[in-house]
Amino acid sequence: MNPIESELYSDSFLDENIKYNFSNYHLKEDPSAIFLTGSTGFLGIHLLAELLTCSKASIYCLVRGADADAGRRRIVEKMQQSRLWKDNYYQRIIPVIGDLEQDMLGLSEEQFRGLAEQVDVIYHNGAFVNSLYPYSRLRASNVAGTREILRLSGLYNTKPVHYISTLSVFSGNNFQTNQTVFLEEDFPRCPTKNSGYVQTKWVSEQMVQNAQNRGLPASIYRIGRIFGNSQSRLMANYSSDSFCIFLKACVLAKKFPSNRDKIYLTPVDFVSRSVAFISRHPDLYGKVFHIYNSRPTLWLNIFDVIQSLGYPMESILRYDWNKEVISIASTLEQTNPVECMQLSLAAASLTGAPDAKIRIDDRHASAALSRGGISCPLVDNDFLRRHIYYLQENQFLPAPSRCPSSSNVVAYWRWIASHGR
Ligand SMILES: NC(=O)c1ccc[n+]([C@@H]2O[C@H](COP(=O)([O-])OP(=O)(O)OC[C@H]3O[C@@H](n4cnc5c(N)ncnc54)[C@H](OP(=O)(O)O)[C@@H]3O)[C@@H](O)[C@H]2O)c1
Repeated sequence: MNPIESELYSDSFLDENIKYNFSNYHLKEDPSAIFLTGSTGFLGIHLLAELLTCSKASIYCLVRGADADAGRRRIVEKMQQSRLWKDNYYQRIIPVIGDLEQDMLGLSEEQFRGLAEQVDVIYHNGAFVNSLYPYSRLRASNVAGTREILRLSGLYNTKPVHYISTLSVFSGNNFQTNQTVFLEEDFPRCPTKNSGYVQTKWVSEQMVQNAQNRGLPASIYRIGRIFGNSQSRLMANYSSDSFCIFLKACVLAKKFPSNRDKIYLTPVDFVSRSVAFISRHPDLYGKVFHIYNSRPTLWLNIFDVIQSLGYPMESILRYDWNKEVISIASTLEQTNPVECMQLSLAAASLTGAPDAKIRIDDRHASAALSRGGISCPLVDNDFLRRHIYYLQENQFLPAPSRCPSSSNVVAYWRWIASHGR
């Protein structure tokens, strides 16, 4: 075993004192108190809204902030910005000021025990999502944080845990084998050659599975690449989202790499709805669910849509594209270091296009979601256009250099108005 492999296996070990009490086991379809982590993030805020809508529970949200008022403000503002807010949510959101990186989630022993007594079910969605930082930097929030969640779930009554993972646990060295279909019940190989982020998610999955072996009712949701909201057009944190940054690099270079085939973009509202629905059915506990959009989007469609919004582009070889983007990035080093960093990241990201070569099985998830008639919205050209236009409106993309196609009415008239015609 090489050193990184032994570190990952050793971190997956669950302390002996984390135990689950079978006599205090009651699985509720209608919990009265839910604990959610990561509620201020892109998926978390949608999950919070969904849990508020489909239950009557109070939702205890782990949130970073100076005090409870500041924590609540952060959550409310995020819901408002995301167009998910309703005034009657106010009383049901209970901020829990803490930090995944700290022992007992940064709570006092009394608070930690109080929380454990209070809540009926836990959704562990919070994580430091960063594909550039090494394992050592992400370990405290993503690995130690999960361990504290599993400790909390075993204190007093055993509380089910719904753990949000990623389909990326199958990337890296998993793709270097002949395996082309990844089943929900498959155990991904130890990700020695992946990013630190993927490694932390793999270790967390191992810990959750160890807890399941000790009797914890838990489910793991492996999520695909999250895309915007199908209703509100809201996009992820675009300035740190690798897909959005890649699009920006193409717009700035006026070129896109020719080797791309297709990509699976999963609307965030489908993810939150799916997790909330599946987690309400105790008979489904104990499984792994692959939640992603099984209908891929062709990259050519994405580039067609970008061009129709007024960004001319040509296709070039991937190697030339990388060189071009790195060269643009270097010219921005002094004047715009943030953009320089984003472009360098884009050149390094989305490599290998494994999405195109493999098949992700989602039988458990599809069967469960069919009970609720839930299906993934189609990411068609109109959906793409609305989202890319959102990036333009928010000035993440520069103004178009030529008149958008008149079929994009808003973009077209805005361009006409700004060019005084
Ligand atoms: N985005 C994707 O495409 C994708 C794909 C597959 C799986 N996932 C998984 O989905 C989950 C949510 O991802 P996301 O894209 O919504 O990420 P995000 O927008 O970056 O949100 C992360 C959330 O975790 C919280 N968090 C991070 N470190 C924390 C700490 N030390 N203590 C307390 N809270 C902390 C953040 O709080 P602050 O607001 O205080 O920073 C934020 O609420 C993650 O588990 C991720 O692994 C994401």
